[in-house]
Amino acid sequence: MALTILIVDDEENARKNIGEFLGSKGFGVIEAPTLADARTVLQRGEGDIILLDVQLPDGYGPNLLLEIAGMPDRPPVILITAYGDIEMAVEAMKNGAHDFLTKPVEFEQLEKSIQRATEMVSMRRELDHYRQSQRQNAEFIVGNSKAMQTLVSYAQRASQASVSVLVTGETGTGKEVMARFIHGNGPRASKPFIAINCAAIQTTMLESELFGHEAGSFTGADRKKIGLMEVADGGVLFLDEISSMPLDIQAKLLRALEERSFRRVGGTNMINVDVQIIAATNRPMKKLIEDEKFREDLYYRLKVVDLDLPALRDRKEDIPELIGFFVRKMNSKLGMNIREVSQRAMQSLVDYAWPGNIRELSNAIERATLFCDEEAIDIQHLPTDIAGIF
Ligand SMILES: Nc1ncnc2c1ncn2[C@@H]1O[C@H](COP(=O)(O)OP(=O)(O)OP(=O)(O)O)[C@@H](O)[C@H]1O
Ligand SMILES: [Mg+2]
Repeated sequence: MALTILIVDDEENARKNIGEFLGSKGFGVIEAPTLADARTVLQRGEGDIILLDVQLPDGYGPNLLLEIAGMPDRPPVILITAYGDIEMAVEAMKNGAHDFLTKPVEFEQLEKSIQRATEMVSMRRELDHYRQSQRQNAEFIVGNSKAMQTLVSYAQRASQASVSVLVTGETGTGKEVMARFIHGNGPRASKPFIAINCAAIQTTMLESELFGHEAGSFTGADRKKIGLMEVADGGVLFLDEISSMPLDIQAKLLRALEERSFRRVGGTNMINVDVQIIAATNRPMKKLIEDEKFREDLYYRLKVVDLDLPALRDRKEDIPELIGFFVRKMNSKLGMNIREVSQRAMQSLVDYAWPGNIRELSNAIERATLFCDEEAIDIQHLPTDIAGIF
């Protein structure tokens, strides 16, 4: 996200130095020498983060804090205070300043502070229904990191071309969400999305679940049964935990994919279907192939497009936006009105390693929301291992 920083300072040299530094870090920069100029910029809706000097020619800088508190975007304010003026800084933090830096501003600290403010902005934007209009119906993927943008663009192509997709990634990284996204954003969206968990179904039943059976084909099969391949005709069949599929069924699946048709168990007629297959696994496929637990030919047939979802700890920049998304979801589910996540809490949430990935993050926010009686989630609302308090 390329944000614009509004620098409010009457000293031209200070504005220039800081402006050049922030420009070199990829931020947009707007300079304002007075409070009046700053107000004009803010009224135009510009300035995502504000760097604010205290003594300005036309007034006391922190007065701007109260005006900003009423603005819809509430850009975070970083105060620049004179060395030693801790009392004033504390007062300003109470009035909603995001952070303060002492003069002369050190670039390293400035960068850290701006980084935290950036996280706050992206979380808030999500919370303030940012881009919600685009998301009302279609499935969507939260996360704007480079890695996710690339994956989403591949997913969109796979969706348009109706080719087989193999989704891999650790538990909780969003494999099923990705499968539903592919279904929801392509020509098959109005047709069924059928999910089957290959690990949760008894081996003996999996074949008939997938392909169906004719009456009397085996003991207990009193009636004809339509398999999920047929139910999903025209749509998407999501084969979750594909690595658990027994080898003989793998062989049948491969044949069905190549011929676009199959027989029901105990049946003689070939049944034609048009199904897009999306398979998912959190186990290393290469290893399973080496161990001859998974057919290599099926593996290649499935991964016409392969989407390897990164662990959350490898795309930490998506965490604030995800938090905003989950807080908003919980607000509407529980009728709550949580508006903020404190900076300390945000820091802990970004620092944590998330072995359970997005699922764990979602649960942590759900819990925090339940424990929070105020408008802001703070560190004490987080599970202790995440908060880093033992
Ligand atoms: N990009 C995303 N945006 C919003 N929520 C997400 C996203 N990805 C995953 N989630 C949420 O995280 C949780 C886990 O997602 P999902 O079930 O798709 O993971 P998975 O990779 O299939 O996990 P497992 O391997 O354990 O089956 C779900 O509650 C889902 O709604
Ligand atoms: Mg899953």
